[in-house]
Amino acid sequence: MHDLIIRNGTVIDGTNAPRRRADVGVTAGKVIEIGSIGGSGREELDAQGCIVAPGFIDAHTHDDLAVLAEPDMTPKISQGVTTCVCGNCGVSAAPIPDGMLPEPLNLVALANLPRFRHTRDYLEALRGQALAVNVVPLLGHSALRASVMGDVFRPATSAEVEAMRSLAEDALRQGFHGVSTGTFYGSAAQASTEEIISVCAPLKTLGGVFTTHMRDESDDVLRSIEETAAIGRALGVKAIISHHKVVGVQNYGRSSETLKRIAELQAQQAIGLDCYPYSASSTVLRPDRVKIAEKTVITVCKPHPEFAGREVGELARELGKTIDEMCAMLQPAGATYFMMHEADVERILQYPETMIGSDGLPMQEKPHPRGWGTFPRVLGHYCRNRGLFSLETAVYKMTGLTARAFKLHDRGTLTPGKAADITIFDADAVIDNATFDAPTRPGTGIECVIVNGTIAWRNGAHLARTGQLLPRGV
Ligand code: ZN
Ligand code: CU
Repeated sequence: MHDLIIRNGTVIDGTNAPRRRADVGVTAGKVIEIGSIGGSGREELDAQGCIVAPGFIDAHTHDDLAVLAEPDMTPKISQGVTTCVCGNCGVSAAPIPDGMLPEPLNLVALANLPRFRHTRDYLEALRGQALAVNVVPLLGHSALRASVMGDVFRPATSAEVEAMRSLAEDALRQGFHGVSTGTFYGSAAQASTEEIISVCAPLKTLGGVFTTHMRDESDDVLRSIEETAAIGRALGVKAIISHHKVVGVQNYGRSSETLKRIAELQAQQAIGLDCYPYSASSTVLRPDRVKIAEKTVITVCKPHPEFAGREVGELARELGKTIDEMCAMLQPAGATYFMMHEADVERILQYPETMIGSDGLPMQEKPHPRGWGTFPRVLGHYCRNRGLFSLETAVYKMTGLTARAFKLHDRGTLTPGKAADITIFDADAVIDNATFDAPTRPGTGIECVIVNGTIAWRNGAHLARTGQLLPRGV
């Protein structure tokens, strides 16, 4: 007798294969049987009229601390997400030193949250708490720099590189899945390609992935892609370009160049990429970004929380300040930048190898809506309404493709023997409701979410927390 039988649904299995009518039988946290199932289960779900898909894997998150501090993980579970890849853009919850933190570490390590000075302590915390979603932690290179170097606004010495390499080796052995960098940010901008290759050297023998918020996603985006590929080649691992985009009004349309180059490189080496389905980005407040954006809205501001939601240029005019003066007055702060072309967003989403990742920044006053809307938006807006790809492909970009890229061999497809992470949704109704004005509204149409064989969320209610720290695949 199965623990759970999901009946009468339409299965989209996460491999990009066509949908089929089938029941799904789950026992002891695993998918056991897919087909026409007789008898009865201990528990049964009627999925008539719904799609039964693998639980979505959010390829790019900053949920390292949210999974502990906001353990229901409503923003993610309500989207059908069952696994979060954390520690992106060079920023991880560990190792984080005491004292003041450089950007962008200060966006993720918030004052009211615990700090983990050692990677082992963070993994212990994940193991010691009931998690709503599965967690795949990456180690952030900027976190390593802050821990080892003190002053990060300079190249690392060879002794510091060796210390970071040794911490990276420990973290990979302890259970981290790879290393991320964020050379776009001040805290890692002075790191050379050689520094990154040396710090990440343990990936060569231990395996794992390399992900990067590239040095430049603007005028020099092609050079950044070459650097990313060179690092991947030197390490012999998959290099994943995080939240691929081309920003700045002067670069509108250039995704045709970047995707052409990525395709050429993919013929020779393992390169991955993820994307969020919005033409606005969000990160720390920087005057150089404000100047190439059409519009910049403050998401969070330490000295002036009352300015969250305000447009920076407008505020500057009101207060009689230049953009540089205005940004200086607001720091530390985060912002949403309207600086991508919709045609580029669609072209990147449509590219066959592009995975879906939200890049949401949790626990902000007025966050970018991607933290709550990404997955329903791809399914409802970009797949159903805009017709960019089939529903099978949309699901594949959120599940099977991502599981393969991150070597989560037990996840990402509905296959007998694999973990039962399952999302049941209404393909006709699914849509995001989070907007830039109301960014924390859950989407519609995600009916039921099963994590490791247990119903975790159903009709808007949290029922269980059965996520796990996932082991690193090789
Ligand atoms: Zn990033
Ligand atoms: Cu990010």
